[in-house]
Amino acid sequence: MLQILIPLLIIGIVVVIYPKTKAKSVLLGESVYKKHCANCHGLKGEGLRLLIPPLGDPRSMQLENLVCTIRYGKRGEILVFGQTYNRPMPGNYELENDEITALINYLYSIFPITPTYQAVTLSEVNGLIQQCK
Ligand code: HEC
Repeated sequence: MLQILIPLLIIGIVVVIYPKTKAKSVLLGESVYKKHCANCHGLKGEGLRLLIPPLGDPRSMQLENLVCTIRYGKRGEILVFGQTYNRPMPGNYELENDEITALINYLYSIFPITPTYQAVTLSEVNGLIQQCK
């Protein structure tokens, strides 16, 4: 009996706790977004005319690109939703990696890049930041 009950209990705990941790991360991410991104990209990521690109283009939102853009900024010509932009975005060196993780989870909650969206973890972000060019 215990052989069945214990795994069931563990699954139950994961099912109850996991969505909460995800939601908490998304909430922190929203406040990071409002403080560090919204003044340029707009409250809903709509961008600003031809000066600042909107968010949500699948290429822009690709995880590796997102992590490195947030940390180190971006310069040079880019194509977003078929429109070219070319203005420097400053890096965010003051953001902790867990804040970047939360920010990305928030962005993926508004702009899901795949139907099977999975929360991004801090260790994934730690690893990717080290590989930024
Ligand atoms: C000072 C204004 C400014 C702020 C603040 C800012 N950005 Fe940007 N962002 C830009 C500009 C300008 C570009 C276009 C860069 C280029 O032309 O190379 C850009 C580009 C991007 C892109 C597209 C990159 C690509 O490869 O397509 C993403 C994604 C992005 N920003 C996310 C963010 C996030 C998330 C934040 C908050 C941490 C943020 N930005 C903060 C101005 C800003």
